[in-house]
Amino acid sequence: MSQIRGRFQKDADKKVAEFTASIPFDWRLYPYDITGSIAHARMLAKQGIISADEAQIIIEGLASIRKEIEQGKFQFKTDLEDIHMNIEARLIEKVGEVGGKLHTARSRNDQVALDLRLFAREAIKDTLLRLKDLQRALLNLAEANRDVVMPGYTHLQRAQPVLLAHHLVAYFEMLQRDIDRFKDCLKRTDVLPLGSGAVAGVAHNIDREFLAKELDFSQISQNSMDAVSDRDFVVEYEAAASIGMMHLSRLAEEIILWSSAEFDFIELDDTYASASSIMPQKKNPDVAELIRGKTGRVYGHLVALLTTMKALPLSYNRDMQEDKEGFLDTVDTLLSCLEILAGMLGALRVKAENTARAAKQGYILATDLADYLVKKGEAFRHAHEIVGKLVSYAVKKGKSLNELSLKEYQGFSPLFGNDVYSITVESSLSARNSTGGTAPVQVNKALSSARAILEGK
Ligand code: ARG
Repeated sequence: MSQIRGRFQKDADKKVAEFTASIPFDWRLYPYDITGSIAHARMLAKQGIISADEAQIIIEGLASIRKEIEQGKFQFKTDLEDIHMNIEARLIEKVGEVGGKLHTARSRNDQVALDLRLFAREAIKDTLLRLKDLQRALLNLAEANRDVVMPGYTHLQRAQPVLLAHHLVAYFEMLQRDIDRFKDCLKRTDVLPLGSGAVAGVAHNIDREFLAKELDFSQISQNSMDAVSDRDFVVEYEAAASIGMMHLSRLAEEIILWSSAEFDFIELDDTYASASSIMPQKKNPDVAELIRGKTGRVYGHLVALLTTMKALPLSYNRDMQEDKEGFLDTVDTLLSCLEILAGMLGALRVKAENTARAAKQGYILATDLADYLVKKGEAFRHAHEIVGKLVSYAVKKGKSLNELSLKEYQGFSPLFGNDVYSITVESSLSARNSTGGTAPVQVNKALSSARAILEGK
């Protein structure tokens, strides 16, 4: 019978034990559980709640259990429910009765909250590094293709010419907001819950400040009931991850579109593409598709946890054990997507001739033509109408704008002069010189400030 079933006459049914166990997934919290327990043992000894010798035995026992797990020698047991009980049971097995003193002044409720916060803190730090790596990959690609022109789209219709670098820095900006969100989430995650006990606090003379220092927490929770039942920090990570995945899915989608024969703007490296089992000519963008696809599970985990937490009465309820699988999977998924996408960007080839050709087609300079008339005194609305008619005329004639004669132009407005032929993709780009615009001057500025952000200047 497991060591906490003192009041029971029977063991739990095997199926029930399997149903209630979290060890199949929470074993991954072992490094945090052990780190937390070592700090707790030190605190107990410092406060004279256990002796220094007892603490020493416990700490050495825990360290050797960590080794056993790392070397794959530890036997996880489902009937011991979770990682906390598995480690405690093994500790008692190894060091005897004194191991039973570790859980003094502690409950699994504040213990699991601690483990999860320690895990989340690491996860956030890893996420921030990976976000920066992806920013770096975007920026490298943008800098290497500074002069590459492409169509800017709205409604997935060619709208106005832009620099590819401008398009890529848009994603750099999104990721910068993601970084800010995770940093913000870190502030609220970095709070020590240990010392809250099961619900009401702890009836021993503990030192929570000491624990916070040992475990490097910048704050201490101020309400024991909140501390054992709060999972906001997990929800926040998952929310920030969902927004991040939304960003990645948009970039993945563009990579998929751009690598299609219809766009033909980029060529994926062979290492990031898959072959078809039946059509030998195909080079499929499966990696980008999977990044786009995995967005679904990350959103799902967020909604699942919000739903699990909804209307839960204070304080800890076993429902909350459901927080872990989704959280672990969210972290794994986000980290791998960030890493893979950065690698894919580093390896792809931009087909600058094709993007430039596309930027010239489709009456993409029509806005510039309207702006030209405005500069000659026409009201914008009227200029818009004139150019609309002009485009419709050119479409009918099967001509591009620069193939129209001055006479044809002047048929629509007397304001057109010979200088209308100096409207080009290049003039269109450099005209958009407002802050944040696609003019090369602006884009170069954006590239250097992005570089400065990356290098932490
Ligand atoms: N396995 C539990 C969880 O993951 C640990 C806390 C259990 N506490 C309890 N009172 N049953 O949430």
